[in-house]
Amino acid sequence: MRETWVRIIVAASGVLAVLLALAFAWLQNPGAAGQRVGAAAVEMSALALTGRKIYQAEGCPLCHAIAGEGNPRYPLDGVGDRLEALELRDWILATGAVATLLPRRAAIMKEDYRDLGADEIDALVAYLSGLRASDGGATP
Ligand code: HEC
Repeated sequence: MRETWVRIIVAASGVLAVLLALAFAWLQNPGAAGQRVGAAAVEMSALALTGRKIYQAEGCPLCHAIAGEGNPRYPLDGVGDRLEALELRDWILATGAVATLLPRRAAIMKEDYRDLGADEIDALVAYLSGLRASDGGATP
């Protein structure tokens, strides 16, 4: 009879240890989940990746910085939080209301971007839309 109790107690503490380990893992989980979300956010869509290449190839960093890379005068960190796709498009191409807000030199450079294909503009917009403050402001 005593042996049975000992076995039950041993088994119960084993179960308890497993439960504690699970509870601990669960407590750790919010952090782990946060990291996963972060990793997913940093993982860009193929379109956004194409946009990043176009961003670099078209000389946007001459005037803009993302994550500290490029001209710090006009940072684009977190621009995805501030501007809608159509607004981003206007800022890239110096169209709409934006045309009169841009300094002349910048507007002239941006007018050149109207030669880009619609798919290239879409890619740029996808890239910039993904620059969220929740990623620490930028996705380099
Ligand atoms: C000759 C300089 C210049 C170049 C090159 C340039 N921009 Fe700009 N851009 C500006 C200026 C100036 C502004 C207005 C910034 C301000 O008023 O804060 C601006 C604004 C923007 C904005 C809005 C930023 C905000 O925070 O509201 C976006 C988006 C943008 N540019 C994207 C681009 C992209 C993408 C490229 C490349 C395809 C590019 N720009 C190339 C000068 C430039």
